[in-house]
Amino acid sequence: MSIEIDLQGKTAIVTGAGAGIGREIARWLARSGAAVAVNDIRPEPARAVVDEIVAEGGRAMVAVANVRDEAEVAALVGRVVGELGALDILVNNVGMHAGRAAVPLVGIDAAHIRDLLEQNVLTTMLCAIAGARVMIEQGRGGVILNVSSGETTRPSPGLEPYAAAKHAVNHLTWTMAVEWGPHGIRVNAIAPGTTLTETVRPVFTDEHVANIVASTPLRRMVEHDELARLSVFLCSDLARCITGQLILADAGAHLSRSRPRNLTE
Ligand SMILES: NC(=O)c1ccc[n+]([C@@H]2O[C@H](COP(=O)([O-])OP(=O)(O)OC[C@H]3O[C@@H](n4cnc5c(N)ncnc54)[C@H](O)[C@@H]3O)[C@@H](O)[C@H]2O)c1
Repeated sequence: MSIEIDLQGKTAIVTGAGAGIGREIARWLARSGAAVAVNDIRPEPARAVVDEIVAEGGRAMVAVANVRDEAEVAALVGRVVGELGALDILVNNVGMHAGRAAVPLVGIDAAHIRDLLEQNVLTTMLCAIAGARVMIEQGRGGVILNVSSGETTRPSPGLEPYAAAKHAVNHLTWTMAVEWGPHGIRVNAIAPGTTLTETVRPVFTDEHVANIVASTPLRRMVEHDELARLSVFLCSDLARCITGQLILADAGAHLSRSRPRNLTE
């Protein structure tokens, strides 16, 4: 006997899916049968991911939008529902420390703080609210998955206010689960450990990577596809009794003691 995840007939939006973790989540949702809207602020990478999905026999559409912008988010959701017919799954993947080097708290200013709060909290809220409105109106439930971070499990010297912003995402996940649960909408979050995406790899020295591996119980980093497969599970009916959860996918890194980053970078 095998357990199969079948998302045939479901439609999904993955934000920031032109690269990194989002790209992999979009590909695995499509492999599971969902029709996927590949959102990104950059058209070319979004188109390339759609081409990859279609080449594998999946169904996908390019959905270019800056999800920091309320009007663009509304237009994005409207376009996806118009083209794919409905919205069942929303993955709020846009976020990031944006490839920045570590900066101590005393070194950051208002522009830095606003940038990270907007990139992580505003994007998640705008998309989740727009998506939930559609799901409530459709009356057939839905799934929202927020991409948080393993940084929320420990102090994050050098990575604020990124970790604080992702903490807000965790809290929002609870509230969304409670407010939208009666409509059959499940809301969960995943907290990835360090994953060497195109944005992250250049800011880490080899020594830094080796240190992370050495201090992580499983002595490894997290791979993109591992996060994608967890996401597909959480978006599927196999997880139909799970809501309001933060699932750590960090090779056990949350069990290690926090280590200050190189704050002189
Ligand atoms: N990579 C890691 O180590 C790691 C660890 C924990 C959590 N995360 C989280 O995982 C998520 C994805 O991280 P990643 O490393 O794959 O990112 P990434 O930088 O590789 O990819 C992000 C994508 O989002 C797009 N994007 C950026 N701003 C956008 C906007 N306003 N509107 C639409 N698209 C936009 C970019 O063009 C890019 O294609 C983020 O929320 C990040 O905080 C990453």
